[in-house]
Amino acid sequence: MRKRTLGKNGPEVSEIGLGLMGMSAFYGDRDNTEESVATIHRALELGVNFLDTAELYGPYTNEELLGQAIKGKRDGIFIATKFGVMWGPEGAVIDGRPETVFKSAEGSLKRLGIETIDLYYQHRMDPKVPIEDTIGAMSELVKQGKVRFLGISEAEPALIERAHRTHPITAVQTEYSLWTRDVETNGVLETTRRLGIGFVPYSPLGRGFLTGAIKSPDDFEEGDFRRFNPRFMGENFQKNLDIVKKVEQLAKDKGISPSQLALAWVLAKGEELVPIPGTKRRKYLEENVKSVEVNLSPAEVSEIDSIFPPDSAAGERY
Ligand SMILES: NC(=O)c1ccc[n+]([C@@H]2O[C@H](COP(=O)([O-])OP(=O)(O)OC[C@H]3O[C@@H](n4cnc5c(N)ncnc54)[C@H](OP(=O)(O)O)[C@@H]3O)[C@@H](O)[C@H]2O)c1
Repeated sequence: MRKRTLGKNGPEVSEIGLGLMGMSAFYGDRDNTEESVATIHRALELGVNFLDTAELYGPYTNEELLGQAIKGKRDGIFIATKFGVMWGPEGAVIDGRPETVFKSAEGSLKRLGIETIDLYYQHRMDPKVPIEDTIGAMSELVKQGKVRFLGISEAEPALIERAHRTHPITAVQTEYSLWTRDVETNGVLETTRRLGIGFVPYSPLGRGFLTGAIKSPDDFEEGDFRRFNPRFMGENFQKNLDIVKKVEQLAKDKGISPSQLALAWVLAKGEELVPIPGTKRRKYLEENVKSVEVNLSPAEVSEIDSIFPPDSAAGERY
């Protein structure tokens, strides 16, 4: 597995990471601990050392699962986790107060069973707390040796700049895939490139849709978050499926799977990008990891660009 550098002078991580969210939250069945742990172990065997979790996933149980999986194997693993959003009775509660930063980090370290978090993200920006205060507290964690590098997730360009002025930001994590290309035009990718910050595309498989495996909204189990996501609902589902069919055809012509095409496209978009496809199964992991061997020529990238141009997906991403 080749490595990529997260940001200028940042840490080296595997060219592709593994998102652990679906093992504990949002995407239907989440009780198969055995297969989840086996998937994490297989990822490490294949050289995928960049593992992405969050306090929110579960909540807490995803970090516990990762802690269990890496017990006695900490060396060489690059662990990213996040704080700053939790579920309350009325939905998501965003909290970037310094006291929350410290408390959350202690909890994550304990659940993960580690002494230092490699990459600590603010999961969502808190409009009530100046970003300088939140990043300032995160920077204290770096001084204390509890965190190595800082990141932010879903931040707009002006906030990325302010955060980076407070403490060097190593990675910005935001949704980016063939059907979610906002960061190409809203200034986020331009800002991270200009400031030498790494970019971590999340949901690079379009929450599974771009793999071609989802053919009907009924494919989702009760309680799956995607049942309530506009892109997977009503007429939007069929409109998006029609575009995915073209992706499937292109992948077939190239002798690869749609998931490999979707990931190879993200990887081709820049050396500073490290996607974190999610899965809870070894079978999918092995398929996805092979995307690093796919070479797309600039002409092929343009052809894929034109099949799924920005804003062609029907429905909002949240
Ligand atoms: N910062 C944020 O706000 C944020 C938001 C969302 C996600 N994330 C992070 O990004 C990671 C990845 O995003 P994601 O999980 O939302 O979406 P994703 O990677 O785009 O897609 C994951 C879905 O695709 C399915 N899948 C994966 N490989 C497949 C294959 N080869 N064939 C068929 N289906 C396949 C998975 O199925 P199974 O689950 O059945 O394996 C899962 O349902 C998450 O795990 C999380 O760590 C961050």
